Amino acid sequence: MTGTAGDASGGLEGIAGVVAGCRLCQELAETRTQTVFGVGDPNAKILFVGEAPGADEDRLGEPFVGRAGKLLNQIIEACGMRREEIYICNILKCRPPGNRNPSPEEAGNCRQFLDGQIASVQPEYIVCWGSVAAKNLLDSTETIGRMRRQFFEYGGAKVLCTYHPSYLLRNPSAKKDVWEDMQLLFADMGVTLTAAKRSDNGA
Ligand code: URA
Repeated sequence: MTGTAGDASGGLEGIAGVVAGCRLCQELAETRTQTVFGVGDPNAKILFVGEAPGADEDRLGEPFVGRAGKLLNQIIEACGMRREEIYICNILKCRPPGNRNPSPEEAGNCRQFLDGQIASVQPEYIVCWGSVAAKNLLDSTETIGRMRRQFFEYGGAKVLCTYHPSYLLRNPSAKKDVWEDMQLLFADMGVTLTAAKRSDNGA
């Protein structure tokens, strides 16, 4: 699947400024503590896309800082990388009340910002964590089970889809599938990930 990413003329800081004042989704604008834009290397080779901020992210203003984020950090470290080397963001920049799924309208409103982030960072690889990220980014109705283990294309990047860390917290047996997906990602970059080498930084 091939897609396009949006205008990045304002750079990440410019887009973040627009996001901070965004009120396109009235309910989210009224209930958020703050917007949660993105974090990490603005020139990262790998960009991660999650679903939306949760309560911890809404409080701290940074993606993936709660329980799922801690597991994500462990996955990053197991791949021999540091969180700071990756650019991390979400489909939505505001927390949906009660952590409900983003509505199609909300995802549509926020899409310009995600596309701007992708166009600005220009990653070689995008990892969609979970079905909300995968389905929205790639405009797909497939399950993660059917989308994983292969590369798609979006905005000039190769896109890999895998299970969300929150899903892994509930279903630890799926961790081996995510590890397989990470092996596929890093193999494409010419790096072999093995259990013994998980602390090497070859990326
Ligand atoms: N889950 C997500 O998808 N994103 C976050 O930032 C935190 C939890």
